[in-house]
Amino acid sequence: MDERIINALRAATRVVVFTGAGVSAESGIPTFRDKQTGLWEQFDASELATPDAFERDPPLVWGWYEWRRGLVLGAQPNAGHRAIAAMADHVPYFTLITQNVDDLHERAGSSDVLHLHGELSRPYCEACRRHYVYPEGIPDVLPGGTRLQPPRCTACGARIRPGVVWFGERVPELPWVAAREAAKHCEVFLCCGTSALVQPAASLADIAIAAGATTVQVNPNPTDLDTSVTVAIRGPSGIVLPQLVSEAWGYP
Ligand code: OAD
Repeated sequence: MDERIINALRAATRVVVFTGAGVSAESGIPTFRDKQTGLWEQFDASELATPDAFERDPPLVWGWYEWRRGLVLGAQPNAGHRAIAAMADHVPYFTLITQNVDDLHERAGSSDVLHLHGELSRPYCEACRRHYVYPEGIPDVLPGGTRLQPPRCTACGARIRPGVVWFGERVPELPWVAAREAAKHCEVFLCCGTSALVQPAASLADIAIAAGATTVQVNPNPTDLDTSVTVAIRGPSGIVLPQLVSEAWGYP
């Protein structure tokens, strides 16, 4: 492992880890843009991930997100998620920012995760914005393509919508402000498993680079960040991140 990263990690008081779909790939959750397996390779984002799509065909969109929620419920965090959770124990000010809508970071032991694109498990009412509480019990895993009527809000009767951020919507203000501040002030910024194409989230890496942080990318494939980060590590996060933690602090 590159000594610059290990030394920077050991010395740092402020570290940011910024994750994308790639960190959950080894848990069996499909990414969006990987060739063949990516969700946007098989599905049309404009039919599923926009406010217009939900207006046009609520059961199609609700069913698609329930299918994905089922996939996540049946998945387990992987060694990459666990290494990120372990890292937090060694760094005084540690911030985990994710674009992922699954809860695998939390289930691996991370807390205070900044979810820039919402959470699959937290749908809310379109009208009064109260969070929807799913009925008790383990839901059926839906076959892909199942159409399902969205439930109604128990408080006001309006339609419940998926708890994710769609194309054309703003990222939620509170996690976004916290994420930007953390990127601006960190000494080490690790960008893991993201194509870094979707704005504004992708600009966090640029903020950290401009602020002079040691920036590291972990990705088995090339991205546009390859040439601007301090070190680009080519490999899957489930292998690379445990190695990083182990070399920096020793792994339990
Ligand atoms: P993408 O699908 O765009 O990128 C996933 C990245 O993970 C790619 O660069 C892969 O090379 C990499 N990857 C694949 N397997 C990996 C592994 N085992 N370890 C590490 N990296 C791996 O996903 P995101 O960058 O997360 O937004 O996409 C950003 C946003 O676009 C998503 O949050 C979603 C999507 O549309 C919304 O839905 C609003």
